[in-house]
Amino acid sequence: MTTRIGVVGAGFIAGRHVESLTALDGVAVAGVADPQADRARALAKRAGATAYGSWQDLLDGEDLDALYVCVPPHQHGDVEEAAVDAGLPLFVEKPLAGDLPTAERLAARIEAAGLLTAVGYHWRYLDTLEQARGLLADAPPRLLLGAWLDTAPNVPWWARQDQSGGQTVEQATHLLDVGRVLAGEVAGGFATGGRSPDGPGDVLDVCTASLRYESGAVGTFSNSCVAPRRYRIGVQVVAPGLGLELTEHELRITDAAGERTVPRQADPIAVEDAAFVAAVRGEGDDVRAPYAEALRTHRVAVAVAQAAAADGGTVQL
Ligand SMILES: NC(=O)c1ccc[n+]([C@@H]2O[C@H](COP(=O)([O-])OP(=O)(O)OC[C@H]3O[C@@H](n4cnc5c(N)ncnc54)[C@H](O)[C@@H]3O)[C@@H](O)[C@H]2O)c1
Repeated sequence: MTTRIGVVGAGFIAGRHVESLTALDGVAVAGVADPQADRARALAKRAGATAYGSWQDLLDGEDLDALYVCVPPHQHGDVEEAAVDAGLPLFVEKPLAGDLPTAERLAARIEAAGLLTAVGYHWRYLDTLEQARGLLADAPPRLLLGAWLDTAPNVPWWARQDQSGGQTVEQATHLLDVGRVLAGEVAGGFATGGRSPDGPGDVLDVCTASLRYESGAVGTFSNSCVAPRRYRIGVQVVAPGLGLELTEHELRITDAAGERTVPRQADPIAVEDAAFVAAVRGEGDDVRAPYAEALRTHRVAVAVAQAAAADGGTVQL
């Protein structure tokens, strides 16, 4: 049985998913929808799929087993509603939306429908994150230090607050998600941020948050988009007798024995896609960030962004 997948949005991340989906046995990317016709055509050609100008035409034109939603943050909403109506398992790229009410509304509908979902928090599929969890099992984290110091992505929606939700919601959300995986739920905190003429669009170009976890651990998470290039992206953790530094590519471990670096073994996006497809086929149960779980991270990211926009506000969850 071939699992037929539709892809909505034909930009950068859709290309990554098409790459890993087309490498899986028994999977066909059947259709790709994007209002930018050249993009839809190019990605459909790579996938051996049909190109569509809208997700409505894709849903009308194909008999699908699952739908990937890879649109900019402000474009979430109607497409997920249509998937719920059609009972179509959904893979949604993070962030769930540029705002919180859209994500809360969709979460309620998805929950009521009992729909299978997965969200693209792909750091959860880093084998190095699993290793970090193992090391922390006997020495729970006391302090987390997350940083996403980068340049602004060159896509038209990114630097617009009303479209992307800003850098914390769009990018640093991966780190806040890792924080939840390692230290549990966030109880509250404070955040501040700012904008300067050097920053792009109308988003905060610096943001820093101090968070308290229910476990008693504390964390600070900072992001900036005025670095000249991808500069530092990762989370450091201090636990009794243990220091960890996780990036998307490796884990550095410091303990009584010294320091060692463990590179990741597998591409987490490929593992994430394989896990979702296995769940769709009823052959696996390793979706690590279903919609409801991703919503808990999105709530933290939006709360941090709102507190930072208020310039020294309380992170209210
Ligand atoms: N998991 C990750 O690490 C990761 C990495 C990159 C991007 N993303 C996320 O994926 C999303 C897309 O990012 P990107 O870098 O691919 O952006 P992009 O701008 O390269 O691509 C987005 C595409 O969506 C299309 N689009 C817009 N509205 C649409 C609609 N209503 N229907 C169909 N297509 C529509 C655009 O025309 C564009 O081609 C963002 O939310 C981003 O945060 C996640």
